[in-house]
Amino acid sequence: MQLSCKWTGRVAALAACVVILACKQTPTSSAGKVLRASPMGLDPVPLPWGKAGLAEKIELGRHLFFDARLSADGTVSCATCHDPLSAFSMSERFATGIHGQVGNRKPPTVINAVYNRTQFWDARAATLEEQAAGPLMNPVEMGMTPALVVSTLSAIPGYQVLFRKAFGDPVVNMERVTEAIATFEKTVVSGNSAYDRFVAGDRGAMSPSQIRGIAVFREGRCNACHEGKAFSNSAMANLGVGTDKPQPDPGRFAITHDEQDWGRFKTPGLRDVALRAPYMHDGSLKTLEDVVEFYDKGGIPNRNLDNRIRPLHLTAEKKADLVAFLRSLNGEGWQDATAPERLPQ
Ligand code: HEC
Ligand code: HEC
Repeated sequence: MQLSCKWTGRVAALAACVVILACKQTPTSSAGKVLRASPMGLDPVPLPWGKAGLAEKIELGRHLFFDARLSADGTVSCATCHDPLSAFSMSERFATGIHGQVGNRKPPTVINAVYNRTQFWDARAATLEEQAAGPLMNPVEMGMTPALVVSTLSAIPGYQVLFRKAFGDPVVNMERVTEAIATFEKTVVSGNSAYDRFVAGDRGAMSPSQIRGIAVFREGRCNACHEGKAFSNSAMANLGVGTDKPQPDPGRFAITHDEQDWGRFKTPGLRDVALRAPYMHDGSLKTLEDVVEFYDKGGIPNRNLDNRIRPLHLTAEKKADLVAFLRSLNGEGWQDATAPERLPQ
């Protein structure tokens, strides 16, 4: 609580009211960490702050997120592919699910997913609640069935206690499981970055190169898609990533069968982006420098390339400044979402 209340001194009056209100009602999880309603630079997290049972629901969700018993062979949890050590993403291109099966897309980060208007690279889920059922039932990821999720959790007395605390009775069902996981995910947020502190008036928060990078970000029209507080408009775009490969991932096209959607993927947010290499839906770009080179060349030409993606011809200094700016977006909040010391028995 101390941290989020301290920020009130620095932010505008209206935002301060929101934070003060949130501070009054901010629940403390049983892990002893104070949950933050909205770190600096972010919109308030849409959770019923102050409502009884919220902290308990977050706690239940935190345990479920880190529990590999929620997978068919007991080896894979959400955190296997959304690892806090890799900013809730993964340091490999593709994720390995149950029985060592390898997927074909890079796990996006869970950080600030609460601000996404759609979930998955192809936007096929509308909400975090809807999304959470996906990996649980995906045969390549966790390989469960709803019945198996219910019977597995019902057989663990420790979970009966956590479900009762969160929902008033120990009944386990898929709706409660996905609600608890989604509620936890909504607390995995990132704000208060060097960039936010700079915008709030702390001129020393960013280096000269990072400050110059703000202008390069605009010059490169990056903000046409990476806009707003989470640096994403949640819209779909074709940059050509992977279209030069033998069997390109069709992206959104596989969902809509609309030719315009071929090769389109959701614009990811850019907060903490420096911590989750490799990049893009196929993890094909290893570093932020590679990403900037990719945009500088105008993406990869293909039959559906977005007309906002054009060669930029940036100087070496501007490229370095742009990377420096991206590094100024590392924030805090999500570091409090740690693995439970012990899982329910
Ligand atoms: C085997 C690896 C793996 C596991 C396990 C896994 N995920 Fe994912 N997750 C992914 C991949 C890969 C994607 C992107 C898939 C796509 O877009 O088609 C993804 C996407 C997501 C997204 C969407 C984020 C965005 O920006 O669109 C969220 C949220 C998420 N996962 C949460 C979870 C939760 C909660 C669990 C546990 C119930 C979980 N994941 C388990 C690999 C995994
Ligand atoms: C037309 C919309 C659009 C514009 C303009 C744009 N981006 Fe992106 N950006 C995207 C999309 C869509 C992706 C994911 C593409 C994919 O995986 O196929 C992406 C991915 C990224 C990633 C990788 C993030 C991750 O989690 O893997 C970074 C970094 C990035 N963009 C930075 C920039 C910068 C810097 C600029 C300006 C030079 C820029 N973007 C311009 C839409 C855009």
